[in-house]
Amino acid sequence: MSLRDALKIPASQITDESVYMDRRRLMAAFAAAPALGLSGCVEAEPPAPPKTTLTAAQAKSGYRTDETPTRYEDITTYNNFYEFGTGKADPSRAKRTLRTSPWTVAVGGHCAKPGKVALEDLLKGLTAEERVYRLRCVEGWSMVIPWLGVPLASVLKRFEPTSQAKFVAFTTLADPRQMPAVAWPALDWPYREGLRIDEAMHPLTLLAIGIYGKPLLQQNGAPLRLVVPWKYGFKSIKSIVAIDFVEKMPETAWHQAQPSEYGFFSNVNPDVDHPRWSQKSERRIAGTGSKLFADRIPTRMFNGYAEQVAGMYRGLDLRKWS
Ligand code: MTE
Repeated sequence: MSLRDALKIPASQITDESVYMDRRRLMAAFAAAPALGLSGCVEAEPPAPPKTTLTAAQAKSGYRTDETPTRYEDITTYNNFYEFGTGKADPSRAKRTLRTSPWTVAVGGHCAKPGKVALEDLLKGLTAEERVYRLRCVEGWSMVIPWLGVPLASVLKRFEPTSQAKFVAFTTLADPRQMPAVAWPALDWPYREGLRIDEAMHPLTLLAIGIYGKPLLQQNGAPLRLVVPWKYGFKSIKSIVAIDFVEKMPETAWHQAQPSEYGFFSNVNPDVDHPRWSQKSERRIAGTGSKLFADRIPTRMFNGYAEQVAGMYRGLDLRKWS
C-alpha cells in the first residue's frame, strides 16, 4: 500500500506553488490599502508544565499564514541535514542513497501498545493536512513552508502513552551506507531530539511527509520528519526511525554537542541570545543567486505562535530553560 492510499489526502486541500502565488496576488489586489543569552540547563529537570487549555479555533489560527511561502526550489536546496554533509547545499547535491521504502518506526517506552510499525500503518486512516508554518533556524535564516502532514498527537495516541510518559524522544536513522556523512563525527550519531509530552501532543506539532503537496525529498527528511513551528529548526528532526515515551528529559544531539548553546526547549525567543550571536532578527530565504536573503525582520516570540503555545510555559523561566 502506498502512503497516499494509507492516508486520506483530499486533493482539493493541497495547494501547488503557482496557485499559491496567484492567490497571493489576488489577495494583494483586494487589499490595495496597506492592511496593514545565556543557555544551558542548570538543573536536570524543569518544573512540571501547567494545565493549559487551547480551543480548536485558537489552534487553527496557527495553521496558516498570509505570508508568501518560500519557493520550492529554495526549500529543497538550502538545507541542514548533517547526515548528508554540513554545507547548506550538501544535502540536495547528495546521491539519493536513503531508502525510504520500506520504512519502519519503532515506538516504545512508557506506552501500553509499543511496536515496530511500517510507515503506512503508522499513518493509516489519518487525514493529511497542509499547514503553512515558518521554520526559523538558530543561525538566523527562516522560511515559510507549506508542509503536508498529520498531527503528531493523533499518531502518538495510538500507542496509548501512560502517565509516566513525561517526554517524547525521537531518533533519526544513522546508517553510513545510506547517509554518507555519518562516517564523520560532526555530531554524536544518531541525531536525537525530544519534546515534553504536552509539546508533543500540541495541535501545532506536525509529523510531516511532504512539502507543497509532494512527498518529502531526501534533503528535507524523507519519509517523515517532525515540524515544531515555535522552536528553532534543529528541533524538527528528520528521517525518524524511533519514537520513545520517556520519564526523564532525554538527551538531544545538539545539547550534547554544545550544552551551553542549545537548551532542551529551544523555543524561538528574541530576548534570549545564542551565546555567540543575537536572536533578535532573521532573514527569509528569498531566491538563490545574488539575493539569497530578504531584508532583516524582527523575530517574534515563539516564532509568532505565542497565542497558541505561550500557555505551556507559564511560570517557566525562559532564560534558564532556553
Ligand atoms: N535532522 C537531522 N536528522 N539531522 C540534521 O542535521 N538539522 C536540523 C533539522 N533536523 C537536522 C535535522 C536543522 S539545524 C534545521 S534548521 C532543520 O532540520 C532544517 O530543515 P530543512 O533542511 O528542511 O529546512
